[in-house]
Amino acid sequence: MNNFMYANPTEIIFGQGMIEKLKDVVPKAARVLMIYGGGSILRNGVYDQVKAALSEHTVIEFAGIEPNPHYETCLQAVTCIREQKIDFLLAVGGGSVLDATKFIAAAASYTGDDPWQILLDGGSSITQALPFGAVMTLPATGSEMNDGGVITRAATQEKLSFTSPHTFPAFSVLDPLTTYTLPTRQLANGLVDAFIHVMEQYLTDQHQALVQDYMAEAVVKVLIETSEAIIHQAPEYNSRANFMWAATWALNGWIGVGVPNDWATHAIGHELTALYGLDHAQTLAIVLPGVMVMEKAHKARKIMQLGRNVFGIDAIDDDALITQTIAAVEAWFHSVGMKTRLSDYQLDATAIDAICARFAERGWQLGEHRSIDAKRVREILTLRL
Ligand code: NZQ
Ligand code: ZN
Repeated sequence: MNNFMYANPTEIIFGQGMIEKLKDVVPKAARVLMIYGGGSILRNGVYDQVKAALSEHTVIEFAGIEPNPHYETCLQAVTCIREQKIDFLLAVGGGSVLDATKFIAAAASYTGDDPWQILLDGGSSITQALPFGAVMTLPATGSEMNDGGVITRAATQEKLSFTSPHTFPAFSVLDPLTTYTLPTRQLANGLVDAFIHVMEQYLTDQHQALVQDYMAEAVVKVLIETSEAIIHQAPEYNSRANFMWAATWALNGWIGVGVPNDWATHAIGHELTALYGLDHAQTLAIVLPGVMVMEKAHKARKIMQLGRNVFGIDAIDDDALITQTIAAVEAWFHSVGMKTRLSDYQLDATAIDAICARFAERGWQLGEHRSIDAKRVREILTLRL
């Protein structure tokens, strides 16, 4: 196991009816900017619950954060913060609203000339941020308990991420009842995104970090075990609660400390979203099986561990175990209704050209061994046509 330092300051407020706790955890004297998306919270009662909880607070609203939140929209919120003298932010919605709020919190306090620099340097130029909390309504990203965000610049179709110790939520309310109105597409997105967050931290070299390994396997087992109920049955509290908590654990940092991290699937997937508009999880389900095949030289032992411990596969030899495990992962994606090929989204080899040109231009080396360059990205995506 590698050395690590880890702290997570986010208070989790979990369970049905817990939105009312906002009245205690949002500072009484604050001027609060409530940030939300395209209106799902107006239709499912979450907006009313938040407003009731904050009836004695000063609350100003900023609506219209897009899925894959736009930099341009975030800058409008920063202007609003300055005009309205806001000193606390409350994100209410999915990962996009939360990520936007993190970026807005940092950009509002940014002392440099151009806040896009925050994305160019991955968050290292963030030295302070407005305090913020969240009501998370979509189990998927783990954004409710981590310090990361992903922002899209619509004008240039760039999608870049940042992390900073200053952009952890102070608290996040997770009420599984809020997930009852999620469409099946978003539920599938959430299951697959959380699954692949675990893979990015687990499916690397054999690293003998048993706590991280077994916790990672537990999280994906919960996702697989609940997925039938989540996708194919009417909403039920315990399966939603377990799904929600598993998605948080998939990316709250715990399973990724002291071990090599990959994140190549995410980096490639972000380009598919930026250029072609696929949902985040849709891109990951296309890319991951390709990464598993192309990188199996050094991922082999962990792929086999995944096959045995999570999918219960017992094969005649190592090659068969690896092949069957990759097939089991793809089959599970299909079982939740997730497509796994570029051609499923009418994308062909010209789409790969555009993505590889970006990686070549940036000179990025991806993966836990920094071995995935633009040429390798082409090989991975060509497998996924
Ligand atoms: O905008 P509204 O009207 O709220 O509707 C949203 C949106 O259309 C809707 N929705 C959310 N909660 C709902 C609901 N509809 C009905 N009932 C509810 N309870 O769902 C749609 C998608 O929402 P969005 O927030 O975009 O989805 P998700 O949570 O999957 O977030 C995706 C974004 O997170 C980034 C992705 O790149 C993408 O930009 N990620 C953030 C990460 C992080 N911060 O750590 C890690 C991830 O890997 C990911 O990259
Ligand atoms: Zn993700």
